[in-house]
Amino acid sequence: MNKLLVLKTISDFKKYRSTLTGSVGFVPTMGALHAGHASLMQQSRTENAHTILSLFVNPTQFNDAKDLEKYPRTFEADLEIATENGVSAILCPDFNEMYPDEYTYSVMEKSFSKKLCGASRPGHFDGVLTVVMKLFNIVEPHKAYFGEKDYQQLQLIKNMVSAFFMPVEICAVKTLRENSGLALSSRNIRLSGEGKQKAALIYKAITESKTTEQAKTFLADHGFQVDYLEDIENRRFVAAFLEGIRLIDNVAK
Ligand code: PAF
Repeated sequence: MNKLLVLKTISDFKKYRSTLTGSVGFVPTMGALHAGHASLMQQSRTENAHTILSLFVNPTQFNDAKDLEKYPRTFEADLEIATENGVSAILCPDFNEMYPDEYTYSVMEKSFSKKLCGASRPGHFDGVLTVVMKLFNIVEPHKAYFGEKDYQQLQLIKNMVSAFFMPVEICAVKTLRENSGLALSSRNIRLSGEGKQKAALIYKAITESKTTEQAKTFLADHGFQVDYLEDIENRRFVAAFLEGIRLIDNVAK
């Protein structure tokens, strides 16, 4: 197995990047890696000479300080998963490295980013788009991999790349699910055993209910606080709280 490089500064990363020849695949993450992230790394590995992962819990995309504080951090386990999945290097900068401007500059999308997750998490997608643009400028990947679980994020990133003529191909990877239907997410670690079983009802609700109203009622009857549950174009999107944890999912209709 190749030795995994862990690079904490942008200047060290750039030195390393300048030595690479061949295509670079990039998997941006906030850590707490699971099989869903592993599937992104595997796809990158089959399509590129090098796979680079970033691990940065990006404060500007958290509108709730408590949510940021509670975000799972599992660095040692993350290194193992990255090594097992053929990652060549991990970029894990701190806030000062990523935001020398202290977030005075940002990327903002004015339409779709205000809906669904953006409606209940003001500023969330500004933070996501800003950090992803910064990461693309540092990493200079040929291809970047994002999961369909965060479908709104995926669409916004695709559209940003197209709006700013950025030279990177955005690759979508299917949502990985537990046998129960629960979409894999870093947030699932915070659920109790019972909560994890119950959380599978989110998938049942969005796939089996005829209307969004029926799906919302079903979830509320099972103790979820539904944030939104909407059909947009050919997809059904949901965000719901269980045990105080915000879970999201979406399916094609
Ligand atoms: O999906 C995530 O983990 C994050 O939103 C991302 C894309 C790494 C940006 O911080």
